[in-house]
Amino acid sequence: MEVFKKAVPISEAVKKGEGRVTVRGWVYRKRVLKEKIFLVLRDATGILQLVLPREKFKIAEELNLESSLVVTGVLVKEPRAPGGVELHVENIDWVYVGEPYPINEDAAVADSEYLLDVRHLWLRSRKMQAVLKIRHTVFGAIHEYFRKSGFYEVQTPMFITAAVEGGATLFKVDYFGQPVYLTQSSQFYLEALIYSLEKVYVVAPSFRAEPSRTRRHLTEFWHAEMEIAWADMEDAVKVGEELITHVVNKVLEERQAELKLLGRNTEMLERAKPPFYRVSYDEAVEILRKKGVRISWGDDIGADEERALTLEFDKPIVLYGFPEKLKAFYHRNDPRRPEVTLSFDVLLPEGYGEVIGGGERIYDAKELVDKIIRFGLNPADYQWYIDLRRYGSVPHAGFGLGVDRLTMWIVGADHIRDVVPFPRDVRRTRP
Ligand code: 4AD
Ligand code: MG
Repeated sequence: MEVFKKAVPISEAVKKGEGRVTVRGWVYRKRVLKEKIFLVLRDATGILQLVLPREKFKIAEELNLESSLVVTGVLVKEPRAPGGVELHVENIDWVYVGEPYPINEDAAVADSEYLLDVRHLWLRSRKMQAVLKIRHTVFGAIHEYFRKSGFYEVQTPMFITAAVEGGATLFKVDYFGQPVYLTQSSQFYLEALIYSLEKVYVVAPSFRAEPSRTRRHLTEFWHAEMEIAWADMEDAVKVGEELITHVVNKVLEERQAELKLLGRNTEMLERAKPPFYRVSYDEAVEILRKKGVRISWGDDIGADEERALTLEFDKPIVLYGFPEKLKAFYHRNDPRRPEVTLSFDVLLPEGYGEVIGGGERIYDAKELVDKIIRFGLNPADYQWYIDLRRYGSVPHAGFGLGVDRLTMWIVGADHIRDVVPFPRDVRRTRP
């Protein structure tokens, strides 16, 4: 049997606290004293201090950080060691001596651009480990919520031919000599699928050629989208509230250790329970004007305005009723007040801002064609989308949630890049 197969996870060894064990992992810290060498070994589950007599283990002196090891030894209580236990090593069963590791603690705090260059290595850090585990829980909880709430999971294409969210942020791809685009949203496909399954969702990448570098924009992000037949805006809002609450609760339940490692104050997360605050676009403009923000009715509520707004509230906000021209053509106008749409965004507190965009869709074929033309678009480009309204159309609503943005808020990150294993933005496509 390969020697590494004898090893137990470090968390298990720490819990056991005594006796002889074999563990495997990577050298996370190293301290050489006169007679002993202290190594901290890291695996996916935790860290464990190893103590090696220097005389016996000459090779330990050469172990650069991130060298990989399989060792056997005896667990001994040691209050000063992480987890209150250390391993007195009797045998090195296997070792791969790494080259000098290019990330030291100084680099880790000094230069985030450098850490992005070596992202393929930085993923090993305790901080990224914690973020990735929380991200795992977030994705799992999204699927869990939709499945337990009667939604069908569907798959939609990434190569598309008609813009959902406007032409400005489309990535063009050469498709056997024909131009096609990378999808910005799976919404139109979900709208087709509700006529078969009524309640559908998809979790997939979306792409936006966002030319600006901001704290919350990626060119490739993960999008959790849902669509429901026979539904209005309020139905979609409720799903959004429940979904966010479910995900946050799941992380609070399962990821306390990781939140603590990241130094996240969880008060705001604990408060995120339905109902979220409902703020109309009109009210938002008033609130912002009172705060001295220069904005008039009809102006966009951008990142700065969202930030100012969310700092006034101690829970997520449902911002609804945006003026027609601020939202994409497919949003249904409010029949009682046609200058605004039955659209909403969910804004996360603490300055994070928009995480969900959604609303009611135009279900009448003529109304849709008229609005496409009013928006200066060509109905021919939306032929199959308009077709959906020709055969038993029904009121329907849905939304898209930015999973990276939700994760960013949950972990309290300053930048969206910090919560994605291999982030893509205007300047970065590697590693
Ligand atoms: O508000 P958006 O553009 O809405 C749509 O795409 C709708 N078609 C969704 C739907 O109704 N099915 O995008 C939805 C969410 C945003 O609220 C944001 O959280 C996220 O997707 N998002 C981004 N996340 C990271 N980087 C970007 N460049 C993003 N663009 C949108
Ligand atoms: Mg939006």
